[in-house]
Amino acid sequence: KKSPLFNNRKSFKHPKSTWMDAGDDDRKRKTPLKVNAGLLSNGYHKSPSDGPSLKRARKSINGHAGSEGEGRRFSVSLASTKQLPLQEQRSKLPIAKGKDALIQEFRENEVTVLLGETGSGKTTQVPQYLLESGIARDGMIAVTQPRKVAATSLATRVAVEQNVTLGSSVGYSVRFDERSSSETRIKYMTDGMIVRELMSDPLLSKYSVVIVDEAHERSLRTDLLIANLKTILRQRNTPQDVKGKGKGRADTNPLKIIVMSATLDAEKFGRFFSGAKIIYVQGRQHPVKIYHSSQGQVDYADAAMRTFFQIHTEYPPGDVLIFLPGQEDIESLEKTIQIYANQLPQDRMSVLMCPMYASQAPGQNSKVFRPTPPNTRKCILATNIAETSITIPGVKFVIDTGKCKEKRYLARNTGGGFDTLLTRDITQSSAMQRAGRAGREGAGYCFRLYTEDAFKTMALSSEPEIMRCSLSSSLLQLKCIGQDLETLELMDQPADESMKSSLILLFFLGALNQKKEITSIGRQMAAFPLEPIFSRAIIASKEYGCTHEVLDIVSILSASSKIFVESSEQRDAVSEARHTRKLTSPRARADCKDWCRRHFLNERALLEANDIREQLRQTCQRLGIDHQTSCGDKEDPVIHSLGHGLAMNLALLQPDGSYKQTIGQAIVKIHPSSTLCDKKTPAIIYDELVYTNQIYARGVSRISKSFIMTLGMLKQES
Ligand code: CDP
Ligand code: MG
Repeated sequence: KKSPLFNNRKSFKHPKSTWMDAGDDDRKRKTPLKVNAGLLSNGYHKSPSDGPSLKRARKSINGHAGSEGEGRRFSVSLASTKQLPLQEQRSKLPIAKGKDALIQEFRENEVTVLLGETGSGKTTQVPQYLLESGIARDGMIAVTQPRKVAATSLATRVAVEQNVTLGSSVGYSVRFDERSSSETRIKYMTDGMIVRELMSDPLLSKYSVVIVDEAHERSLRTDLLIANLKTILRQRNTPQDVKGKGKGRADTNPLKIIVMSATLDAEKFGRFFSGAKIIYVQGRQHPVKIYHSSQGQVDYADAAMRTFFQIHTEYPPGDVLIFLPGQEDIESLEKTIQIYANQLPQDRMSVLMCPMYASQAPGQNSKVFRPTPPNTRKCILATNIAETSITIPGVKFVIDTGKCKEKRYLARNTGGGFDTLLTRDITQSSAMQRAGRAGREGAGYCFRLYTEDAFKTMALSSEPEIMRCSLSSSLLQLKCIGQDLETLELMDQPADESMKSSLILLFFLGALNQKKEITSIGRQMAAFPLEPIFSRAIIASKEYGCTHEVLDIVSILSASSKIFVESSEQRDAVSEARHTRKLTSPRARADCKDWCRRHFLNERALLEANDIREQLRQTCQRLGIDHQTSCGDKEDPVIHSLGHGLAMNLALLQPDGSYKQTIGQAIVKIHPSSTLCDKKTPAIIYDELVYTNQIYARGVSRISKSFIMTLGMLKQES
């Protein structure tokens, strides 16, 4: 799109005007903000909520604060760390210094809040300490993560450290994928999976320790887990004579809870579990020079690319970590940087691209963790997964676009009733974390593609997810274990409007009755690890005799990336493949790769959909739904089954060509990528709304008005 940077070196030395006061000499550069040793103690102490009471409660396990000379000392250890045997690497982690004191604290306290900088060893080491010290007795240790890819990659690492095969004593459990066995003692799992386990085991009796990791993220499931843990603690740890005979299990199976967080807003967790012990692990943080751009950047991807090449040509070796909002940005920037990197003069360091985002398949990101080859610079493109969940070794430079994707529920009364995933500005807390990633192994640099004023106007930290997300699926799960979101003791209570909206959806789907009680359909729906709209469609497919087809569709929609590959260069070919060809699958498995390529399909997404389908099939079997019933070539049964689930995703054509929701106020347009885009179909059904400059419906199908009538969802006027 733009002229190649390398033909025009000036354009890419531009940062003279871009970076504040950036002189050619490093020492002359102004550093508007310095994150140095003790990122936490310096950077955060200013916040009024982090007052003296936290300091009082905090016990410093070790005092390894970086200071002058640290950088030099470190560069020696950096060279050697990579060759260090694993056990020695473990013993060099900041947390290892305080190991014995830490174990003592865990032994003595029912609930511990453990704070520490990213990379200090909390997530990988604490579970091993608990196992090795016998604190976990013969129970399991659950370590919860808000993200799937963190759970799988951490389990892989810890299995290596324990020298066991993944799935034996160290395993993981994430949606649609599990590697664990009866031997498993340390289980990394998503917070969603453990909340799901509550349905079959309300006391979580398998676990002797539950570690709630990345608690500062305040994901919806983590909040629900924390609320439940408080109740479970009361039930499992209250002495028998207080609770009455036979009920208390205190003697046999007490529970320990460890809440771990990378940021300092821990008092709230401590208060919630009254009397929790707060412990602080001092990390090993080196100075990071932070530069802000002098002007706001219109195109953050382009700015990131230019900054990357500026670093690559002007700065010493060291890997670069670029924070981008999402997978699409990552994939496109990866291609662009690669194209320019290929044009670099032969004598330059080469560039190794390493994308990293939540929906990657396990193992796909392994080159991120492998040592950088000689004469090479890694360019890691990551979402906020690399902010605290995963520490990537070798990073010396961080480029922060200042953007992230945030899920936010648009309440029905404001014309919404759906989740949006919008790119938005990060928070100050995220910006600090991102900068800190450059100072893990030595002094580093952080280039912020936003101005210092923009930084100052950012929110301090993000709002808990429970305040801004659709609650339907959680509400339904809680109903199954006899809980109500309204009465559950949560750290933060969601808005009434959002609660009401979710109740209405569940009522329309037939999951709840008018008294807000769960129905038998609701129970069946909750058995599927799916959003209620999709589980409802599967249940309806039984009635319409098309479970086979609906399972296919729901599996594909549940895969973490889209099965259709976009290609801007071959747009016509893609369109031809998609709109005119009937796809019949290849006979032999070996032809699959080639077949996918020819038809512009994402093989990995299809294989994932296949695994998901297998899991859904098993759930069908448990519920007595015959997964093989098929309607052959007929479309209506399938559309109608989907219609039961997507009952609130129906819209009617308006005279001006737009569509109006049958429930809710929103005016939607059919997304330009849809085959129905200009077809003036009288009534449509869609599986998602995307909100860009206007609201677009995606995954659109034609549906008959008479069917909408039978659902009883057509408004009087229509
Ligand atoms: O949880 P916390 O941020 O405190 O640290 P951690 O995740 O336990 O990581 C400790 C160290 O293990 C990091 O500095 C990484 O270098 C290393 N690690 C790794 O090499 N590969 C992984 N998959 C995970 C961690
Ligand atoms: Mg961690």
